[in-house]
Amino acid sequence: MSTSVAEKVAQETANDFLPLQGTDYVEFYVGNAKQAAHFYKTAFGFQSVAYAGPETGVKEKASYVIRQNKLTFVLTTPLKTDNPIADHIYKHGDGVKVLALRVDDAKDAWEQTTKRGGKSYLEPTTLKDNDGEIVLSGIHTYGDTVHIFVERKNYKGAFMPGFRKWETNYNPSGTGLLYVDHCVGNVGWNQMNPWVKFYEDVMGFRNILSFDDKDISTEYSALMSKVMSNGNGFVKFPINEPAEGKKKSQVEEYLDFYNGEGVQHVAIATHNIIETVTELKRRGVEFLKIPPTYYETILDRVGKIDEDLQPLSELGILIDRDDEGYLLQIFSKPLEDRPTLFFEIIQRKGAKSFGKGNFKALFEALEREQELRGNL
Ligand code: FE2
Repeated sequence: MSTSVAEKVAQETANDFLPLQGTDYVEFYVGNAKQAAHFYKTAFGFQSVAYAGPETGVKEKASYVIRQNKLTFVLTTPLKTDNPIADHIYKHGDGVKVLALRVDDAKDAWEQTTKRGGKSYLEPTTLKDNDGEIVLSGIHTYGDTVHIFVERKNYKGAFMPGFRKWETNYNPSGTGLLYVDHCVGNVGWNQMNPWVKFYEDVMGFRNILSFDDKDISTEYSALMSKVMSNGNGFVKFPINEPAEGKKKSQVEEYLDFYNGEGVQHVAIATHNIIETVTELKRRGVEFLKIPPTYYETILDRVGKIDEDLQPLSELGILIDRDDEGYLLQIFSKPLEDRPTLFFEIIQRKGAKSFGKGNFKALFEALEREQELRGNL
């Protein structure tokens, strides 16, 4: 008698001291949130959701909330220099500050994680307005990045108290982006295992996949990676550290320019990667270029796929297969002038892995860019 999937999930959830319902939002600290919101709406097809700033009684910052399906971004900028958000931008440039996770009980999430060694960032705090209440709490993770636990089961408003609904006539159409598939952190030399242990001990995650420098190295761009997943698999955080290669690792380049550890990429799911990427490119989003030779032998490696190869090769979409199916993925160029944060667009067709078979082609493409920047 085999246990049904539903029973298995229920069992894992019952044993899980930090049950997570998924990513609630990703918050970026940026130099100019008004322009960043316009960029993400125009280029990626997000919709305006909510705004907080001086007009809503928030004096020290302005935040724009944008959404596409289940993918919510918050773009926040400081209004004065003497401000921790300004310090964050001075140190890192634009980047991800918050990976917010949806929970049923934010107070319990804080208690469970801080008693296991998590360093508190925000003690449980209840915010109320006419639409109900939200409970927030938070802990620190790698670098200056934090996790905020969001309990919103008693809230009906646009985003949370302090924000007002953002009404606008400028509503570019969506591009098929659905939700956060995974978020990758880059950490320093010899720091991968301590952070793996943090996610295991403090947050109850487990290591579902590992890649060492033999899997992930070209002549130059070596790194090591371990994928951490929460109990129900809704939240996945791969952790990368640089490895010794002939020249500078891509992770080291990131650490130099971000001035420390931080989020390397956010992977966003789509149901139709060809349509999504065609539209993103039309709107000016830039992706890493893959040499045409990649496609000459790809079907020998991955076998039969549903899609025609031609649009995939024209767009530079990569393909990989594991025991459970295959996946299609593509990586944007960095979204800032610094070679730091970028996006991955991913369509999973059964595969639950992360495209290990593409690492070589991908890293060679990354190295070409790194060389153009003079950082190899
Ligand atoms: Fe990824």
